[in-house]
Amino acid sequence: MPVSIGATQESSFANPIGLLTDCHRRIERFLEVLVRVATEAREGSLSAEHRHAMEAALSYFDRAAPMHTADEEEDLFPELRRVDRPDIEQIVARVSRLESEHSIATAWHHEVHEIGERWLRQDYLLPHEAAELKRVLTSLTELYRGHIAVEENEIFPVAEEALSAFEKEAIGRRMALRRGAGFIVGSPNMEHA
Ligand SMILES: [Fe+2]
Ligand SMILES: [Fe+2]
Repeated sequence: MPVSIGATQESSFANPIGLLTDCHRRIERFLEVLVRVATEAREGSLSAEHRHAMEAALSYFDRAAPMHTADEEEDLFPELRRVDRPDIEQIVARVSRLESEHSIATAWHHEVHEIGERWLRQDYLLPHEAAELKRVLTSLTELYRGHIAVEENEIFPVAEEALSAFEKEAIGRRMALRRGAGFIVGSPNMEHA
């Protein structure tokens, strides 16, 4: 079965919460790509299709996904922490756990990157390396399932409601700046993060 890595982009920098949600779909899709390659190719030689899919997914997690973490940790979460409302405090308390999960995910992604790059380089993996890759990918999939659910069901709706249009626009501008992109309302947006 072909490994799909195409993306449908919907939101713009004028809609930063929507953009963060789009990023989650990319994270899920590229993670699925890695799981599929690891499952189909086992530890053996990579087909051209598997190689291309693996390169795209590793590159995404190496270069683009960290910007999503920065969007949340440097822009969205601080903005939420500044909201002075008792009902927001409980939500903000969850943010620290999300930040710890970011650190765990980053360490696991480094491990996946290292094994994946080795696989691309030598075109095989030792059985224990393949087993480790699958184990870490399973852990990442489980971590993201809970992490993304909390962000999309608890954090983002509150952010959407509690932040002013000005604050959201400021977040969008910083996200655009992080990617060296322009901020124009209604304009196309970022492609890969
Ligand atoms: Fe997150
Ligand atoms: Fe997120």
